[in-house]
Amino acid sequence: MYKIAVIGGDGTGPEVVREGLKVLKSVSNKFDIKFEFTDFDFGGARYLKTGETVPESAIAELRQFDAIYLGAIGHPDVKPGILETGILLKLRFALDQYINLRPIKLYPNVETPLANKGPDEIDFIVVRENTEGLYCSIGGFLKKGTPDEVATQEMINTRKGVERCIRYAFELTRKRNKEKTLTLCAKTNVLTYAHDLWWRAFQEVSTEYSDIKPEYAHVDATTMWMVKNPEWFDVIVTTNMFGDIITDLGAMIQGGMGIAAGGNINPEGVSMFEPIGGSAPKYTNKNVINPLAAIFAGQMMLDVLGETKAALAVEASAVKVISQMKSMAAGKMGFSTSEIGDMVADGI
Ligand code: IPM
Ligand code: MN
Repeated sequence: MYKIAVIGGDGTGPEVVREGLKVLKSVSNKFDIKFEFTDFDFGGARYLKTGETVPESAIAELRQFDAIYLGAIGHPDVKPGILETGILLKLRFALDQYINLRPIKLYPNVETPLANKGPDEIDFIVVRENTEGLYCSIGGFLKKGTPDEVATQEMINTRKGVERCIRYAFELTRKRNKEKTLTLCAKTNVLTYAHDLWWRAFQEVSTEYSDIKPEYAHVDATTMWMVKNPEWFDVIVTTNMFGDIITDLGAMIQGGMGIAAGGNINPEGVSMFEPIGGSAPKYTNKNVINPLAAIFAGQMMLDVLGETKAALAVEASAVKVISQMKSMAAGKMGFSTSEIGDMVADGI
């Protein structure tokens, strides 16, 4: 029995999560896996009503679950930053979800903006460090609001944090068993202290994985290769901020936000799975948003929980549904949100 915390969140979040749950319920019948779903109402609406994002007591409660299934966080009436730091980043940090896993996989019949590239060329995975780097909110202002203003924002890199992320990436590359190539994406030519630490940790850990080929690419070159030769990548490991940027590029080459999923993973604790597209307020309650990203997030959750067969069944069913869709874009799919959910659930 898996206890799953469900945070529908804002905008289209609850709609796509509803379809994801439909698919998980179908999985439950077919594979004899039991789930118990518990709803949490964190998001913009609750914040506007109560001024609360995620209370400390809720963090303790969430620790008792096997996983968290998240829709989207972001509300047009809330100032940018409040919900992101108060909910999404707070959960990532408090639950020590130190890996952000983003598969970049182009499925057949999905349109990519890259000319002459198809599913054989676009199939890699980004392992993004998820609890350090530029995301720690350490910094401040001096002489704020004056012409002499100074603002600092510190980039944190701990040997422990970097090494556990790199180690996870090597293990994943081995388990994935494809090209057996792990690329470190950093900026060692400029960040000569911070990324020297990454470089040394990468070299040292790589000696324990003689079956994996270690590669290196600067982040600027990485964006270039992702467009020009995405087939060069198998697994990429990178820092929090660089990972944020390159995975949006990755989402675009795999067919857009309608399909891109991510996992915030604590391999020893409670992980959280989400479609990465955001709350898309203008499509809310129109039954037009693409639920596949949420469905693939559910697939990733099954995989991380160890339900490999069920995860593969979700992927196979989704791939069949994709073959019938006109587009991955909201309102242009040829089907409604709930129809896509029904089709994937039935296909299980
Ligand atoms: C993501 C998002 C978040 C991030 C924001 C919403 C804080 O862009 O999950 O990639 O930067 O990590
Ligand atoms: Mn992002």
